[in-house]
Amino acid sequence: MSMRQLFKVYGHTFQSKSWTSATIYTIEPRNLQAIFATDFTSWGVQPMRLFAFKPFVGKGIMCADGTFWEQSRALIKPTFARAQIADLHLAAYAVHVEKLFDLLPRDGATVDLQPLFSRLALDSSTEFLFGESVGSLSPNTISLDAKSFLKAYDYGQMVVGRRLHLPQWNFLTRDKKFWDSCRIAREFVDSYIEKGQHIVDQAKKGNEAPKRYILAHELIKETGDPDNIRNQLLNIFLPAHEAVGAALTNVFFNLARSPNVYTKLHQEIVAAANDQAPWTFERLKSLRYLQYVINETFRLNPAIGTDTRMALQDTILPTGGGPSGTSPIFVKRRDIVTMSFYALHRRQDLFGDDANVFRPERWETLRPVHWSYLTFGGGPRVCPGQQLALTEVGYTIVKIMETFKGIENRDPVKGFIEVYKITTTSQNGAKVALLPA
Ligand code: HEM
Repeated sequence: MSMRQLFKVYGHTFQSKSWTSATIYTIEPRNLQAIFATDFTSWGVQPMRLFAFKPFVGKGIMCADGTFWEQSRALIKPTFARAQIADLHLAAYAVHVEKLFDLLPRDGATVDLQPLFSRLALDSSTEFLFGESVGSLSPNTISLDAKSFLKAYDYGQMVVGRRLHLPQWNFLTRDKKFWDSCRIAREFVDSYIEKGQHIVDQAKKGNEAPKRYILAHELIKETGDPDNIRNQLLNIFLPAHEAVGAALTNVFFNLARSPNVYTKLHQEIVAAANDQAPWTFERLKSLRYLQYVINETFRLNPAIGTDTRMALQDTILPTGGGPSGTSPIFVKRRDIVTMSFYALHRRQDLFGDDANVFRPERWETLRPVHWSYLTFGGGPRVCPGQQLALTEVGYTIVKIMETFKGIENRDPVKGFIEVYKITTTSQNGAKVALLPA
């Protein structure tokens, strides 16, 4: 049974118990508010994630709580704050979008956009994090080092997923390929930190302002600890490199099934593009229907569909318990809560009877109930890449719309079949034909 069906059968909050601990599943906005914000310190990720993640990406923002997490967050904050509003970031991103265009058929042939968007996200995130793109959209020029890093990262990520479910005394995963993958990933990032150190030193001497924001370089300026820099970069690579690709795939999955929405958005973009000015962060934000299409996709198909926390101490969830289903719930230390943004965003009592329908127009009047629309999470741990991701997604859609006037679905399966990895992706990708203007 899918997570959404489970919530249909058992209600908005239910519990499954093993002999040691309980897992509570909830899509109640008040519970999510407590976990993400008002009772933030009672909840964490470290006891669940550190064992699984540490050999691969080291201790960093994704697998820490408390002071270490606070320090990690403070370390990356200035770069994200500067980069997200900087059109420098957009200029660097645009180069990768141009490479994507080399791979898009112009003759109405069927193309699965999913692997292409995933390579786009990979290329742009490696440039933003490490200072150089792995160049996966140019398969003939991709370096051997980058290839072996990507292979190692893929494998390592898969084993981390497995380790999340292993008993923690199983500290020796007897898998040489895993330990080799950990080493290859570390060495790859270390080489960029060394290069970055040189670039930062040179820039200091010449008093040069940065031409673009590179996370590795900014971290080098802020801390002299190369191990911490490497671990943080590997940690951030985890959510950074797949989510934008998944989000873009989901947008085009929906547009292909609603060609009238494509046409309406195309008209908005063509009208706005008439003045020939370059696309900037502000200009993208001013395109209202574009924002509705993105919001609506993120509502129906959030790129990260679930999130999990462990109780770090005994605490209480405000609602979902007792015979009425509205009493507070006592939660014991070490109990786990799984939240499904995917199921939450499809609740008919929150988003209307047509909550399962892709209808961007609803955003003309929709003001989601507090803590019911959580594509990027919320509270102190909210996704720091939110604005970057929105800019990248918006820009890519606009560039495709400028070149293609229509879209056709080429997938016989109409519904969205969700596959849960770190991201929630479409099992069948987004098989479409793009129709040239
Ligand atoms: C559409 C694309 C994206 C979506 C939907 C998304 C969504 C999320 C969500 C739901 C979380 C979990 C928040 C929580 O557990 O409370 C998260 C965390 C995070 N995201 Fe994103 N994300 C996206 C893109 C990015 C990008 C592009 C980056 C970096 C360049 C990024 C970096 C991070 C980091 C570092 C965290 C961990 C924050 C922490 O634990 O303090 N994300 N993201």
